[in-house]
Amino acid sequence: MFGDEKMAKYRLKKEDIYCGDLILVNRDYKIQFAIAKEELESVDKNASDILLHKKANAFLQQALSEIKADNKILPVSGYRSLEEQQDIFTNSMKENGKEFTLKYVAYPNASEHQTGLAIDLGLNEGEIDFICPSFPHYGICEEFRNIAFKYGFIERYQEEKKQVTKIGAEEWHFRYIGYPHSEIIQKNNFCLEEYHEYIKKYETTPLIYKNFEIQYFPFKKDVEIELSEEDQLSGNNIDGIIVTRKIR
Ligand code: DAL
Ligand code: ZN
Repeated sequence: MFGDEKMAKYRLKKEDIYCGDLILVNRDYKIQFAIAKEELESVDKNASDILLHKKANAFLQQALSEIKADNKILPVSGYRSLEEQQDIFTNSMKENGKEFTLKYVAYPNASEHQTGLAIDLGLNEGEIDFICPSFPHYGICEEFRNIAFKYGFIERYQEEKKQVTKIGAEEWHFRYIGYPHSEIIQKNNFCLEEYHEYIKKYETTPLIYKNFEIQYFPFKKDVEIELSEEDQLSGNNIDGIIVTRKIR
């Protein structure tokens, strides 16, 4: 399969399908496991109640620092518990009605915010709307959008993909999925749903992208795969596992 540096056999577990940076979370594929609190940290010291997965936050900080965002961009919403997502959904239904809510608020357990891998960012200018913060296609926000893929982030909900994602355009919502997946998605103009369809083709031979090999393994009981220590493993939250390996 991959090369033959120090490999060890790893027996796939059913739970592996439902964890990892690449999991697809939407109306059809709901969250199966809550993220452990120890994996979360505050996005910044001025917004200590906004939490993100530690790895995603490290890359977010690097991206913000590359464009010298300072306090021009603010985190608006990061990790949400099931209860928080439920409250946001219920309150929005009351205050904004069904059409708006279904467009901009995911059903409880169908929100990427529950993974700790999604962050809503807002331009620090005037009052910031919690559900739809302004993150325009110019200036510092566009600079962030243009480099986000280098740090593993994608703009998750785009206008032309709303038939697939079932969510309206959210130019403020960024999802960490890891590099190089973020770059492949951007180059091919995929949404995450489409990327998972695409990656399934690479079951018998891996996709080679730059110095990475990416391979899909449908989950089967008692199947063992060969992994090296540096390999990244993530479920797709559907039916299988994706292995990402750096070629040295
Ligand atoms: N606003 C996004 C869709 C969420 O609620 O997860
Ligand atoms: Zn969001």
